[in-house]
Amino acid sequence: MGKPLNVLDLKAMKGGNRRISMVTCYDFWSAQLLNRSDVDALLVGDSLAMVMHGFDSTVHADVELMALHTRAVARGAPDKFIVGDMPFLSVRKGLEPAMDAVQALMQAGANAIKIEGEAGQLDLVAHIVESGVPVMGHLGLTPQAVHGFGGHKVQGRDEAAARALVESARRLADAGCFALVLECVPARLAACVTAAIDVPTIGIGAGVATDGQVLVLQDMLGTNPEFKPKFLRHYADGFGTIRDAVDRFHADVQSGAFPAREESYA
Ligand code: KIV
Repeated sequence: MGKPLNVLDLKAMKGGNRRISMVTCYDFWSAQLLNRSDVDALLVGDSLAMVMHGFDSTVHADVELMALHTRAVARGAPDKFIVGDMPFLSVRKGLEPAMDAVQALMQAGANAIKIEGEAGQLDLVAHIVESGVPVMGHLGLTPQAVHGFGGHKVQGRDEAAARALVESARRLADAGCFALVLECVPARLAACVTAAIDVPTIGIGAGVATDGQVLVLQDMLGTNPEFKPKFLRHYADGFGTIRDAVDRFHADVQSGAFPAREESYA
């Protein structure tokens, strides 16, 4: 735990000897916990539609839902840099609804917003940045486009797609993005993008050459043991630990071992 980071601190971590760590955070209790961790930034990712609400894609998140979760995270993690995800189509319906969505997330407590994709959005990105709101870009496997991609697939595998991705990254950096998430792209391509732009890249499934890494908290804690894509490392047996605790509670209730006298009021 150090002093709270701001957007300039994160930008300055480009190419330095300290990499950016970011995890997703969706609610108050995990925000309180993460507020006391060393992690650099929290992402209120629209993956919450899947992880917290059981939808099959992030397409189901909307601005109201994102703002609700962002408010909870902001209350729990006042010392962390919080990035709020702009949900599905929120940047595709014109300037005014997009700016309303930005306002909703920032007033909910985000310190920056994240926008998936690049094509057709550069003017909007520049406008948001000019309005004083830091924007994090997101390229590669942008999950809101899962239906267009035909599934959650590694992106930028062929030469043309890789070149296009590098160009998109350059344009987003020029438009003022302070950082860029690269999701599920070959490690070599992520390294090229990282070298090509002067803002930090934060990878998920993008190899080790990026300026930082992001993971979904529940995934890295192993709360779903069946979910183990190639890029994911389980840092805990969250599923086993939680289930065993609940089973021990259940057993203690059955045996009368809980509550003990010290856990009861006289
Ligand atoms: O919504 C999310 O969790 C994300 C990360 C995977 C980068 O966008």
